[in-house]
Amino acid sequence: MKQSRHLTLKLAAPADAVPIAAMSRELIEAGLPWSWTPERVTRNLRQPETLVLTARDGERLAGFAIMQFGDERAHLSLLAVRLDYHRQGVGRRMLEWLIESALTAGIASVHLELRETNHGARRFYLRQGFAETVRIPGYYRGVETAVRMLREIRIKP
Ligand SMILES: CC(C)(COP(=O)(O)OP(=O)(O)OC[C@H]1O[C@@H](n2cnc3c(N)ncnc32)[C@H](O)[C@@H]1OP(=O)(O)O)[C@@H](O)C(=O)NCCC(=O)NCCS
Repeated sequence: MKQSRHLTLKLAAPADAVPIAAMSRELIEAGLPWSWTPERVTRNLRQPETLVLTARDGERLAGFAIMQFGDERAHLSLLAVRLDYHRQGVGRRMLEWLIESALTAGIASVHLELRETNHGARRFYLRQGFAETVRIPGYYRGVETAVRMLREIRIKP
């Protein structure tokens, strides 16, 4: 794996809403109606129980993630890395950062859904300790199947 030492992770700013939404449309929602619009990302930026994380190469946005925190469960809504930064550990670093934050917040498990056909991301999450729990036909606009994944993060005594 190539290393991404020059990248920094930091919370998103309001100005990131437009590029984050564009990355979601291009990298995650391709072929589906665009649901993570700049307005929706902005709403998430304002929610105290949601973290919007960015990975930056100088001023350039290389990746981002959006995670909602509940009492014991966190939901990873989106995570994406620009194509030219793939396979350099950026996704793993963002996920590790979020899981550290979740542990600090008392979260026991992290949940997510992704497109069944997204084999690369499924392998990424399996590699990061997630397990596939259930298939949900029609989850995406009634036309596409999702796979739900789960990672228990709290260390059991
Ligand atoms: C999934 C995604 C976030 C991974 O980000 P990344 O920064 O490229 O991943 P990392 O470099 O941290 O990968 C860590 C490990 O995960 C596995 N992995 C990552 N991408 C993989 C792929 N496409 N195929 C198989 N394994 C993969 C590998 O084991 C990798 O280690 P290695 O490179 O040493 O073999 C990225 O491919 C992406 O943005 N995809 C489009 C958006 C998306 O599908 N998001 C998920 C749904 S919300």
